[in-house]
Amino acid sequence: MELQNFIDGKWTSNDELQTIPVVNPANSEQLASVPLSTKQQVEEAVAAAKKAQKSWALTPAPKRADYLYEIGHKLKEKKEYLAQILTKEMGKVIEEARGEVQEGVDMAFYMAGEGRRLFGETTPSELADKFAMSVRAPIGVVGLITPWNFPIAIATWKSFPALVAGNTFIWKPATETPMMAFEMAKIFEEVGLPAGVANIVFGAGSTVGTELIEHPDVKVISFTGSTETGSKIAELGGRHLKKISLEMGGKNAVIVMEDADLQLAVEGIIWSAFGTAGQRCTACSRVIVHKDVKNKLEQMLVEEISKLTIGDGLDPTIKIGPVINGAALEKINHYVQVGKQEGATLLVGGKSLTSPPFNKGFYFEPTVFTNVKNDMDIAQEEIFGPVLSIIEVASLEEAIEVNNSVKFGLSSSIFSQDVNKIFKAQRDLDTGIVYVNAGTTGAEIHLPFGGTKGTGNGHRDSGQAALDVYTEWKSIYVDYSGKLQRAQIDTEN
Ligand code: UN1
Repeated sequence: MELQNFIDGKWTSNDELQTIPVVNPANSEQLASVPLSTKQQVEEAVAAAKKAQKSWALTPAPKRADYLYEIGHKLKEKKEYLAQILTKEMGKVIEEARGEVQEGVDMAFYMAGEGRRLFGETTPSELADKFAMSVRAPIGVVGLITPWNFPIAIATWKSFPALVAGNTFIWKPATETPMMAFEMAKIFEEVGLPAGVANIVFGAGSTVGTELIEHPDVKVISFTGSTETGSKIAELGGRHLKKISLEMGGKNAVIVMEDADLQLAVEGIIWSAFGTAGQRCTACSRVIVHKDVKNKLEQMLVEEISKLTIGDGLDPTIKIGPVINGAALEKINHYVQVGKQEGATLLVGGKSLTSPPFNKGFYFEPTVFTNVKNDMDIAQEEIFGPVLSIIEVASLEEAIEVNNSVKFGLSSSIFSQDVNKIFKAQRDLDTGIVYVNAGTTGAEIHLPFGGTKGTGNGHRDSGQAALDVYTEWKSIYVDYSGKLQRAQIDTEN
């Protein structure tokens, strides 16, 4: 299957474009080919989005929301079909793929509800016979750049608030997982979204991404991906005074205190460290454990890990699917070697699986290092794979300090039964998301998603906060006194 760009409501031909294969990471089977678009396709898409934006912005918000309700219903109807494709192109196990599509359904209905809210404020004026209010105004054409690890959910976190707020968009999905975007474009077409409102341009970040960031008619860029790429986007976008919303890396920790329910902690750690083969921004890659329970926790972890099944995620008995590609496998392998050289103790795992039936895919064993020192690279850098580091501490204060010592600040978690420790931790953990007695993954779509420090630049996906990315605040004063009233001066009258 040859995927095509979706520009101005039409599927465009790829005749002049170079294409690259889309590969199933479970077995290297080619699923499709995706075009590498150029500046020309970006320009066409931006022109279409610009043309469509005026009338889209003038369409009443509840009417815009009606399209989102339709999209939500379509996503729900096609949930199993989409989940199967998602597992094939991304590798995550089928149960997680269904969960990811559900995240898109949830976001569609949540943001559709915004069509009848999009609340601004009314407030008294300091002057008589004067009215004061604020409204959210759409910004215009927005550019969305999305990663391969959540190819549908993250796209809905960005495109749905953009749409309901009256913007039009150009979406550049990751080249590893374009089939989800292709399926979304079909849904946009099926629900009859006006031409030009939603455009999808496939291609590399260095061409399509850069063109979007530099194009004067694209006013907002929302990006999820690596901190390295995000910083470059911020730099380039900054020069053009763009609004840049970034959601980047994580080095998320689960803290296990001496009074924790250890069985629950083990379940939470395994789910958030090895789910999606560790390829979530929110994945747990550190366990910060109190010295009194370290040995016991390690024993329990090793035992549970031995039960995890690895393989093609389409098989419902499999718990850990492949990682995305050979480059990811190499990076994970590299960090495992670094961990050994740094003197950490390899407790379990540590190898890629190279013999049949795994040799055609990209599989890595769930891996745990213990006796990890906080200044080791494996304790500080994002590995984005199924590799966990255990760090021992002697107190809650030390645990919080270790948690906060990394350059990222996305998600954190504490397992404890002590309400005092829990409240102290939720206050002092320097992350955008904190979990209590649950792992570091599993954000719900109606709360803000994002993080502090190297994880972001102050913006958030999801929840009401997402609307701040795609709207400008406009403050409106209506003076009905019929005379000149000067603010701050004529207030005595
Ligand atoms: C991501 O890894 O970028 O909270 C997104 C979670 C999911 C989303 C993860 N709902 O783990």
